[in-house]
Amino acid sequence: MVAHNGLDFLRKLRRTYRDWLATEATEAMHDIEPEGSVLRMSLAERCQHSLLASSFIVLVYTGFALKFPDTWLFAWLVALEQGSAIRGWVHRGAAVAMILACLWHLAYLPTRRGRALIADMLPRPEDAKEVWQNIGYLSGLRSDPPRFGRFSYIEKAEYWSLIWGSIVMAVTGFALWFETEAMRFVPLWMLDLATMVHYYEAWLATLAIVVWHFYMVIFNPDVYPMNWTWLSGKISMAMLRHEHPREYERLCEQEDAGSDTDQASAATPGAEPRGSERA
Ligand code: HEM
Repeated sequence: MVAHNGLDFLRKLRRTYRDWLATEATEAMHDIEPEGSVLRMSLAERCQHSLLASSFIVLVYTGFALKFPDTWLFAWLVALEQGSAIRGWVHRGAAVAMILACLWHLAYLPTRRGRALIADMLPRPEDAKEVWQNIGYLSGLRSDPPRFGRFSYIEKAEYWSLIWGSIVMAVTGFALWFETEAMRFVPLWMLDLATMVHYYEAWLATLAIVVWHFYMVIFNPDVYPMNWTWLSGKISMAMLRHEHPREYERLCEQEDAGSDTDQASAATPGAEPRGSERA
């Protein structure tokens, strides 16, 4: 992940530096909303994301505070406890919030946007091709980046790892939470294993979020200091064309078709917009 994103960072830094030298290009890159913006994350999606993000941050902090109570980073919290189990209970509370976010997401999946999201998130053979094309581009071996659709392999990897990671953390976490009850069904060594898996998956999840997700939405020079979509829900058409050109084209074609057959499309359920929608 570090190597992949290091290459991505350097490639984009070089481009933004050149763009900065040519003022016009800079404006084209950063200033712009000549064509307006489209909805990338609905309100429900943003709320799910915020609940998941805030509970995850609390889980990381309190989880590592349980494991490393003597570290300076957690000293204030341990001092506050005075014999009570604040870290453990805040950790459990945040776990419940995270599970609620997951359940909300599950309930949202059968909706129109939810079905489109899953369909667009499914891995396809082209994703593997685009990984190599992108690495070639980031290393300077190709002049053009791959033409990503609504979700690139980067977002798909994030989404499916998050699903898998949440299941692993919830199963092992509940085994630790209800240890006595769990011991009625499984041998002790399985609980030791659950503790170990919970701990190492915690490192994996934390590093994946920092190195992969935070890089893409914060440190990435194209969006730094922040990709605001998680709050505004919108993405500019210019950014959509730049980051997700196939989705941009799909949207333009849909709009062209819509303006040609305005009345007809109202009667055609298949013509409904999915994914990105005009904000
Ligand atoms: C549904 C999700 C989760 C549940 C139910 C859960 C539950 C628990 C429980 C019951 C403990 C033992 C607490 C104690 O000793 O008082 C624990 C420990 C821990 N949790 Fe979680 N947790 C969850 C998610 C997470 C996440 C997302 C992270 C970090 C990314 C995390 C990191 C940790 C760490 C580092 C420990 C200490 C492990 C050790 O002592 O070896 N947990 N968790």
